Amino acid sequence: MRIRVLTAADAADFRALRIRGLREHPEAFGRTPEEVDPVEVIAHQLRVDAGSDMDFTLGALDGEVLVGVAGCHRERARKQRHVAHIWGVYVAPEHRRTGLGRRLVLEAIARARTWPDLEWLRLDVTTVNEGARALYVSCGFRPVAIKPSSLRIGERHYDEELMALDLRPSRPVDVAAAYDEWAETYDRDANRTRDLAAATLRQSGLDLGGRDVLEIGCGTGRNTEWLVEQGARVTALDFSAGMLRRAQARLGSAPVRFVKHDVRAAWPLVAGSVDCVIAALVLEHVEDVAAFFEECGRVVRVGGEVWLAELHPIRQLQGGGAEFTRPRTEERVRVAAFLHDVAEYVSAGIRVGFTLREMGESRDPGAGRFVAPQLLWLRFRRAAIA
Ligand SMILES: C[S@@+](CC[C@H](N)C(=O)[O-])C[C@H]1O[C@@H](n2cnc3c(N)ncnc32)[C@H](O)[C@@H]1O
Repeated sequence: MRIRVLTAADAADFRALRIRGLREHPEAFGRTPEEVDPVEVIAHQLRVDAGSDMDFTLGALDGEVLVGVAGCHRERARKQRHVAHIWGVYVAPEHRRTGLGRRLVLEAIARARTWPDLEWLRLDVTTVNEGARALYVSCGFRPVAIKPSSLRIGERHYDEELMALDLRPSRPVDVAAAYDEWAETYDRDANRTRDLAAATLRQSGLDLGGRDVLEIGCGTGRNTEWLVEQGARVTALDFSAGMLRRAQARLGSAPVRFVKHDVRAAWPLVAGSVDCVIAALVLEHVEDVAAFFEECGRVVRVGGEVWLAELHPIRQLQGGGAEFTRPRTEERVRVAAFLHDVAEYVSAGIRVGFTLREMGESRDPGAGRFVAPQLLWLRFRRAAIA
Protein backbone atom coordinates (compact mmCIF):
# COMPACT_ATOMS: atom_id res chain seq x y z
CA MET A 1 0.00 0.00 0.00
CA ARG A 2 1.45 3.33 -1.07
CA ILE A 3 0.54 6.78 0.20
CA ARG A 4 1.25 9.76 -2.06
CA VAL A 5 -0.05 13.21 -2.91
CA LEU A 6 -2.79 13.05 -5.55
CA THR A 7 -2.39 14.96 -8.81
CA ALA A 8 -4.78 16.08 -11.53
CA ALA A 9 -4.47 12.63 -13.13
CA ASP A 10 -6.16 11.12 -10.04
CA ALA A 11 -9.21 13.39 -10.23
CA ALA A 12 -11.68 10.81 -11.56
CA ASP A 13 -10.62 8.13 -9.02
CA PHE A 14 -10.70 10.66 -6.21
CA ARG A 15 -14.19 11.78 -7.21
CA ALA A 16 -15.50 8.21 -7.38
CA LEU A 17 -14.08 7.30 -3.97
CA ARG A 18 -15.36 10.50 -2.40
CA ILE A 19 -18.86 9.90 -3.74
CA ARG A 20 -18.71 6.37 -2.37
CA GLY A 21 -17.78 7.71 1.06
CA LEU A 22 -20.53 10.32 1.08
CA ARG A 23 -23.06 7.72 0.00
CA GLU A 24 -22.02 5.08 2.56
CA HIS A 25 -21.52 7.46 5.49
CA PRO A 26 -23.75 10.48 5.00
CA GLU A 27 -23.47 11.33 8.72
CA ALA A 28 -19.66 11.61 8.46
CA PHE A 29 -19.43 14.34 5.81
CA GLY A 30 -20.94 17.75 5.21
CA ARG A 31 -21.70 17.29 1.52
CA THR A 32 -24.10 15.03 -0.33
CA PRO A 33 -22.87 12.97 -3.34
CA GLU A 34 -24.73 15.39 -5.64
CA GLU A 35 -22.66 18.28 -4.31
CA VAL A 36 -19.29 16.79 -5.27
CA ASP A 37 -17.54 18.97 -7.85
CA PRO A 38 -17.30 17.81 -11.46
CA VAL A 39 -14.11 15.99 -12.36
CA GLU A 40 -12.65 19.00 -14.24
CA VAL A 41 -13.00 21.21 -11.17
CA ILE A 42 -11.35 18.57 -8.97
CA ALA A 43 -8.52 18.13 -11.53
CA HIS A 44 -7.97 21.89 -11.55
CA GLN A 45 -7.89 22.01 -7.73
CA LEU A 46 -5.42 19.10 -7.49
CA ARG A 47 -3.21 20.82 -10.09
CA VAL A 48 -3.25 24.09 -8.11
CA ASP A 49 -2.55 22.22 -4.86
CA ALA A 50 0.44 20.43 -6.36
CA GLY A 51 2.08 23.80 -7.04
CA SER A 52 1.31 25.31 -3.64
CA ASP A 53 2.48 24.63 -0.13
CA MET A 54 -0.95 25.41 1.30
CA ASP A 55 -3.03 22.36 0.43
CA PHE A 56 -2.65 18.69 -0.42
CA THR A 57 -4.78 15.63 -0.86
CA LEU A 58 -3.25 12.30 0.07
CA GLY A 59 -4.27 9.02 -1.48
CA ALA A 60 -3.63 5.45 -0.38
CA LEU A 61 -3.20 3.14 -3.36
CA ASP A 62 -3.53 -0.61 -3.44
CA GLY A 63 -1.58 -1.20 -6.63
CA GLU A 64 -3.17 1.38 -8.92
CA VAL A 65 -6.50 1.43 -7.07
CA LEU A 66 -7.28 4.41 -4.85
CA VAL A 67 -8.70 3.04 -1.58
CA GLY A 68 -8.21 5.87 0.92
CA VAL A 69 -7.96 9.67 1.01
CA ALA A 70 -7.23 12.51 3.42
CA GLY A 71 -7.10 16.23 2.61
CA CYS A 72 -5.36 19.13 4.30
CA HIS A 73 -6.19 22.79 3.75
CA ARG A 74 -4.31 25.74 5.20
CA GLU A 75 -6.05 29.01 5.96
CA ARG A 76 -4.98 31.80 3.58
CA ALA A 77 -5.74 34.95 5.55
CA ARG A 78 -2.70 36.44 7.27
CA LYS A 79 -4.26 36.25 10.73
CA GLN A 80 -5.37 32.63 10.26
CA ARG A 81 -2.44 31.15 8.40
CA HIS A 82 -1.18 29.39 11.52
CA VAL A 83 -4.18 27.02 11.25
CA ALA A 84 -4.81 24.17 8.81
CA HIS A 85 -7.67 21.67 8.59
CA ILE A 86 -7.71 17.94 7.94
CA TRP A 87 -10.78 17.07 5.86
CA GLY A 88 -12.40 14.25 3.91
CA VAL A 89 -10.65 11.32 5.59
CA TYR A 90 -12.07 8.12 4.13
CA VAL A 91 -10.92 4.52 3.73
CA ALA A 92 -12.93 2.04 1.65
CA PRO A 93 -14.61 -0.46 4.03
CA GLU A 94 -12.73 -3.47 2.59
CA HIS A 95 -9.43 -1.83 3.64
CA ARG A 96 -10.41 -0.86 7.18
CA ARG A 97 -8.91 -2.35 10.35
CA THR A 98 -5.52 -2.39 8.66
CA GLY A 99 -4.22 0.85 10.16
CA LEU A 100 -4.57 2.61 6.84
CA GLY A 101 -6.67 5.49 8.19
CA ARG A 102 -4.06 6.08 10.84
CA ARG A 103 -1.24 6.01 8.27
CA LEU A 104 -3.08 8.58 6.17
CA VAL A 105 -3.69 10.90 9.13
CA LEU A 106 -0.12 10.57 10.42
CA GLU A 107 1.26 11.27 6.95
CA ALA A 108 -0.96 14.34 6.68
CA ILE A 109 0.30 15.55 10.08
CA ALA A 110 3.92 14.93 9.06
CA ARG A 111 3.48 16.91 5.82
CA ALA A 112 1.67 19.75 7.55
CA ARG A 113 4.47 19.98 10.12
CA THR A 114 6.86 20.97 7.33
CA TRP A 115 4.85 24.16 6.65
CA PRO A 116 6.61 27.10 8.28
CA ASP A 117 4.69 28.78 11.11
CA LEU A 118 1.83 26.31 11.16
CA GLU A 119 0.67 26.00 14.78
CA TRP A 120 -2.59 24.10 14.77
CA LEU A 121 -4.24 21.30 12.86
CA ARG A 122 -7.99 21.11 13.30
CA LEU A 123 -10.73 18.77 12.16
CA ASP A 124 -14.41 18.14 12.69
CA VAL A 125 -15.76 14.68 13.45
CA THR A 126 -19.38 13.70 13.90
CA THR A 127 -19.83 12.60 17.50
CA VAL A 128 -21.56 9.35 16.44
CA ASN A 129 -18.45 8.43 14.45
CA GLU A 130 -16.67 6.88 17.43
CA GLY A 131 -14.11 4.91 15.40
CA ALA A 132 -12.88 8.03 13.61
CA ARG A 133 -12.82 10.00 16.84
CA ALA A 134 -10.68 7.34 18.53
CA LEU A 135 -8.36 7.35 15.52
CA TYR A 136 -7.83 11.10 15.80
CA VAL A 137 -7.25 10.89 19.56
CA SER A 138 -4.66 8.18 18.95
CA CYS A 139 -2.93 10.55 16.50
CA GLY A 140 -2.74 13.25 19.17
CA PHE A 141 -5.85 15.37 18.49
CA ARG A 142 -7.65 16.74 21.50
CA PRO A 143 -11.35 17.56 21.79
CA VAL A 144 -11.99 21.31 21.83
CA ALA A 145 -15.74 21.85 21.58
CA ILE A 146 -18.99 20.32 20.51
CA LYS A 147 -20.72 22.02 17.59
CA PRO A 148 -24.34 21.12 18.14
CA SER A 149 -26.54 20.10 15.24
CA SER A 150 -23.89 20.70 12.57
CA LEU A 151 -25.50 18.30 10.12
CA ARG A 152 -29.16 17.70 9.42
CA ILE A 153 -30.13 14.63 7.42
CA GLY A 154 -33.90 14.44 7.06
CA GLU A 155 -35.30 14.88 10.56
CA ARG A 156 -32.12 13.79 12.32
CA HIS A 157 -29.48 16.20 13.59
CA TYR A 158 -25.84 15.34 14.20
CA ASP A 159 -23.35 17.12 16.47
CA GLU A 160 -19.79 17.58 15.40
CA GLU A 161 -16.76 17.72 17.66
CA LEU A 162 -14.01 20.19 16.88
CA MET A 163 -10.65 18.55 17.55
CA ALA A 164 -7.22 20.15 17.45
CA LEU A 165 -3.61 19.08 17.39
CA ASP A 166 -1.16 21.59 18.81
CA LEU A 167 1.97 21.61 16.66
CA ARG A 168 3.78 24.20 18.74
CA PRO A 169 6.82 22.75 20.43
CA SER A 170 5.87 23.92 23.91
CA ARG A 171 6.27 21.40 26.70
CA PRO A 172 3.52 22.60 29.09
CA VAL A 173 0.80 21.59 26.65
CA ASP A 174 2.21 18.09 26.49
CA VAL A 175 1.00 17.17 29.96
CA ALA A 176 -2.60 18.22 29.32
CA ALA A 177 -2.56 16.52 25.92
CA ALA A 178 -1.17 13.35 27.44
CA TYR A 179 -3.88 13.31 30.12
CA ASP A 180 -6.55 13.96 27.50
CA GLU A 181 -5.36 10.84 25.79
CA TRP A 182 -4.90 8.87 29.00
CA ALA A 183 -8.43 9.79 30.12
CA GLU A 184 -9.79 7.08 27.85
CA THR A 185 -8.05 4.27 29.76
CA TYR A 186 -7.09 5.87 33.08
CA ASP A 187 -9.81 4.12 35.07
CA ARG A 188 -9.35 0.68 33.60
CA ASP A 189 -5.53 0.59 33.51
CA ALA A 190 -3.85 -1.18 36.41
CA ASN A 191 -2.15 1.61 38.42
CA ARG A 192 -0.76 0.85 41.87
CA THR A 193 0.27 4.42 42.64
CA ARG A 194 -3.20 5.73 41.83
CA ASP A 195 -4.83 3.05 43.99
CA LEU A 196 -2.41 3.55 46.87
CA ALA A 197 -2.99 7.32 46.82
CA ALA A 198 -6.75 6.76 46.82
CA ALA A 199 -6.52 4.31 49.74
CA THR A 200 -4.21 6.66 51.67
CA LEU A 201 -6.62 9.56 51.19
CA ARG A 202 -9.49 7.43 52.48
CA GLN A 203 -7.48 6.65 55.63
CA SER A 204 -6.31 10.22 56.12
CA GLY A 205 -8.80 11.11 58.81
CA LEU A 206 -9.39 14.52 57.18
CA ASP A 207 -12.43 16.31 58.50
CA LEU A 208 -14.44 16.87 55.31
CA GLY A 209 -18.15 16.91 56.21
CA GLY A 210 -19.67 20.29 55.36
CA ARG A 211 -16.23 21.69 54.41
CA ASP A 212 -15.18 23.61 51.30
CA VAL A 213 -12.72 21.33 49.56
CA LEU A 214 -10.60 22.23 46.55
CA GLU A 215 -9.38 19.18 44.69
CA ILE A 216 -6.46 19.94 42.39
CA GLY A 217 -6.00 17.62 39.41
CA CYS A 218 -9.24 15.71 39.94
CA GLY A 219 -8.59 13.47 36.93
CA THR A 220 -11.50 11.14 36.22
CA GLY A 221 -13.11 12.02 39.56
CA ARG A 222 -12.28 8.86 41.49
CA ASN A 223 -11.44 10.84 44.62
CA THR A 224 -13.98 13.58 43.87
CA GLU A 225 -16.75 11.02 44.26
CA TRP A 226 -15.42 9.96 47.65
CA LEU A 227 -15.06 13.57 48.80
CA VAL A 228 -18.72 14.21 47.94
CA GLU A 229 -19.72 11.06 49.84
CA GLN A 230 -17.95 12.50 52.89
CA GLY A 231 -20.25 15.52 52.70
CA ALA A 232 -17.67 17.98 51.34
CA ARG A 233 -18.59 20.92 49.09
CA VAL A 234 -16.15 20.22 46.29
CA THR A 235 -14.52 22.39 43.65
CA ALA A 236 -12.63 20.06 41.32
CA LEU A 237 -9.98 21.59 39.11
CA ASP A 238 -8.06 20.05 36.22
CA PHE A 239 -6.58 21.33 32.96
CA SER A 240 -7.38 18.24 30.91
CA ALA A 241 -10.74 18.50 29.13
CA GLY A 242 -10.68 14.73 28.58
CA MET A 243 -10.21 14.02 32.28
CA LEU A 244 -12.86 16.56 33.29
CA ARG A 245 -15.39 15.04 30.91
CA ARG A 246 -14.90 11.64 32.56
CA ALA A 247 -15.16 13.17 36.02
CA GLN A 248 -18.37 15.00 35.12
CA ALA A 249 -19.88 11.81 33.71
CA ARG A 250 -18.94 9.94 36.89
CA LEU A 251 -20.36 12.56 39.24
CA GLY A 252 -23.59 13.06 37.27
CA SER A 253 -25.80 15.50 39.12
CA ALA A 254 -23.68 15.62 42.28
CA PRO A 255 -23.15 19.23 43.41
CA VAL A 256 -19.51 19.56 42.34
CA ARG A 257 -18.10 22.69 40.75
CA PHE A 258 -15.78 21.55 37.98
CA VAL A 259 -13.25 24.07 36.74
CA LYS A 260 -10.95 23.68 33.75
CA HIS A 261 -7.83 25.45 34.89
CA ASP A 262 -4.07 25.15 34.90
CA VAL A 263 -2.97 25.04 38.52
CA ARG A 264 0.25 26.89 37.58
CA ALA A 265 -1.81 30.04 36.95
CA ALA A 266 -3.54 31.99 39.74
CA TRP A 267 -6.49 29.96 40.98
CA PRO A 268 -10.01 31.20 40.24
CA LEU A 269 -10.97 31.25 43.93
CA VAL A 270 -11.25 34.10 46.34
CA ALA A 271 -8.93 34.40 49.33
CA GLY A 272 -9.85 32.41 52.44
CA SER A 273 -12.60 30.41 50.73
CA VAL A 274 -11.30 26.86 51.19
CA ASP A 275 -11.06 24.54 54.21
CA CYS A 276 -8.99 21.85 52.56
CA VAL A 277 -6.86 21.53 49.41
CA ILE A 278 -6.32 18.01 48.14
CA ALA A 279 -3.85 17.11 45.41
CA ALA A 280 -3.18 13.49 44.51
CA LEU A 281 -0.44 12.75 41.95
CA VAL A 282 -0.42 16.21 40.39
CA LEU A 283 2.65 18.05 41.65
CA GLU A 284 5.13 15.86 39.80
CA HIS A 285 3.85 17.71 36.72
CA VAL A 286 4.26 21.14 38.30
CA GLU A 287 7.77 22.59 38.37
CA ASP A 288 7.18 25.40 40.83
CA VAL A 289 5.98 23.86 44.11
CA ALA A 290 6.47 27.20 45.92
CA ALA A 291 3.90 28.89 43.65
CA PHE A 292 1.46 26.06 44.39
CA PHE A 293 1.82 26.63 48.13
CA GLU A 294 1.51 30.38 47.73
CA GLU A 295 -1.92 29.84 46.22
CA CYS A 296 -2.73 27.39 49.03
CA GLY A 297 -1.68 30.09 51.51
CA ARG A 298 -4.02 32.56 49.82
CA VAL A 299 -7.16 30.43 49.52
CA VAL A 300 -7.00 28.22 52.63
CA ARG A 301 -8.70 29.59 55.75
CA VAL A 302 -6.90 29.72 59.07
CA GLY A 303 -7.14 26.23 60.57
CA GLY A 304 -7.60 24.73 57.10
CA GLU A 305 -5.49 21.96 55.63
CA VAL A 306 -3.51 20.85 52.59
CA TRP A 307 -3.19 17.14 51.83
CA LEU A 308 -0.81 15.92 49.14
CA ALA A 309 0.19 12.55 47.79
CA GLU A 310 2.89 12.06 45.18
CA LEU A 311 4.91 9.29 43.65
CA HIS A 312 7.81 9.03 46.11
CA PRO A 313 10.93 10.88 44.87
CA ILE A 314 12.98 7.72 45.46
CA ARG A 315 10.72 5.98 42.96
CA GLN A 316 11.27 8.82 40.53
CA LEU A 317 15.03 8.48 40.97
CA GLN A 318 14.63 4.79 40.20
CA GLY A 319 13.02 5.76 36.90
CA GLY A 320 9.35 5.74 37.93
CA GLY A 321 6.87 8.29 36.64
CA ALA A 322 3.37 8.74 35.26
CA GLU A 323 3.04 6.76 32.05
CA PHE A 324 0.40 4.94 30.08
CA THR A 325 0.01 2.66 27.08
CA ARG A 326 -1.65 3.91 23.90
CA PRO A 327 -4.37 1.33 23.39
CA ARG A 328 -4.12 1.08 19.64
CA THR A 329 -0.36 1.08 19.20
CA GLU A 330 0.77 -0.38 22.56
CA GLU A 331 3.23 2.54 22.63
CA ARG A 332 4.28 3.60 26.16
CA VAL A 333 3.89 7.34 26.75
CA ARG A 334 5.78 9.04 29.59
CA VAL A 335 4.14 12.22 30.87
CA ALA A 336 6.62 15.08 31.47
CA ALA A 337 7.48 15.31 35.18
CA PHE A 338 9.72 17.12 37.67
CA LEU A 339 11.55 15.72 40.67
CA HIS A 340 10.75 17.32 44.03
CA ASP A 341 12.65 16.40 47.17
CA VAL A 342 10.72 15.86 50.38
CA ALA A 343 12.27 19.01 51.86
CA GLU A 344 11.03 21.04 48.91
CA TYR A 345 7.38 20.29 49.76
CA VAL A 346 7.91 20.83 53.47
CA SER A 347 9.84 24.12 53.11
CA ALA A 348 7.41 25.53 50.54
CA GLY A 349 4.50 24.84 52.91
CA ILE A 350 6.20 26.25 55.99
CA ARG A 351 7.30 29.38 54.13
CA VAL A 352 3.70 30.46 53.53
CA GLY A 353 2.43 29.78 57.05
CA PHE A 354 1.54 26.08 57.12
CA THR A 355 2.75 23.63 59.73
CA LEU A 356 3.50 20.05 58.83
CA ARG A 357 0.99 18.00 60.75
CA GLU A 358 1.68 14.52 59.45
CA MET A 359 3.67 12.83 56.75
CA GLY A 360 3.97 9.28 55.50
CA GLU A 361 5.68 7.01 53.02
CA SER A 362 3.43 4.21 51.83
CA ARG A 363 4.38 0.91 50.30
CA ASP A 364 2.18 -1.59 48.57
CA PRO A 365 0.60 -4.04 51.01
CA GLY A 366 3.10 -6.84 51.55
CA ALA A 367 6.12 -4.92 50.25
CA GLY A 368 9.12 -5.35 52.55
CA ARG A 369 11.14 -2.60 54.27
CA PHE A 370 13.83 -2.74 51.63
CA VAL A 371 11.50 -1.89 48.81
CA ALA A 372 11.47 1.86 48.18
CA PRO A 373 8.18 3.47 49.22
CA GLN A 374 5.72 4.06 46.42
CA LEU A 375 4.02 7.12 47.79
CA LEU A 376 4.91 10.23 49.75
CA TRP A 377 2.04 11.98 51.48
CA LEU A 378 1.96 15.15 53.54
CA ARG A 379 -0.68 16.90 55.59
CA PHE A 380 -0.28 20.58 56.43
CA ARG A 381 -2.35 22.87 58.61
CA ARG A 382 -2.64 26.60 58.27
CA ALA A 383 -1.65 27.99 61.61
CA ALA A 384 -3.81 30.52 63.37
CA ILE A 385 -2.39 34.01 63.00
CA ALA A 386 -0.73 34.93 66.34
C1 LIG B 1 -2.14 11.15 37.71
S1 LIG B 1 -3.58 12.11 37.42
C2 LIG B 1 -4.30 12.03 39.05
C3 LIG B 1 -5.79 12.16 39.01
C4 LIG B 1 -6.46 11.97 40.36
N1 LIG B 1 -6.03 12.99 41.33
C5 LIG B 1 -6.19 10.58 40.89
O1 LIG B 1 -5.51 10.46 41.92
O2 LIG B 1 -6.68 9.62 40.28
C6 LIG B 1 -2.98 13.78 37.39
C7 LIG B 1 -4.05 14.78 37.04
O3 LIG B 1 -3.52 16.07 37.27
C8 LIG B 1 -3.87 16.91 36.19
N2 LIG B 1 -2.86 17.96 36.06
C9 LIG B 1 -1.54 17.81 35.82
N3 LIG B 1 -0.94 19.01 35.76
C10 LIG B 1 -1.92 19.95 35.92
C11 LIG B 1 -1.95 21.36 35.90
N4 LIG B 1 -0.85 22.07 35.69
N5 LIG B 1 -3.13 21.98 36.11
C12 LIG B 1 -4.27 21.28 36.31
N6 LIG B 1 -4.31 19.93 36.31
C13 LIG B 1 -3.14 19.27 36.12
C14 LIG B 1 -3.92 15.97 34.98
O4 LIG B 1 -4.70 16.50 33.94
C15 LIG B 1 -4.50 14.72 35.60
O5 LIG B 1 -5.90 14.70 35.53
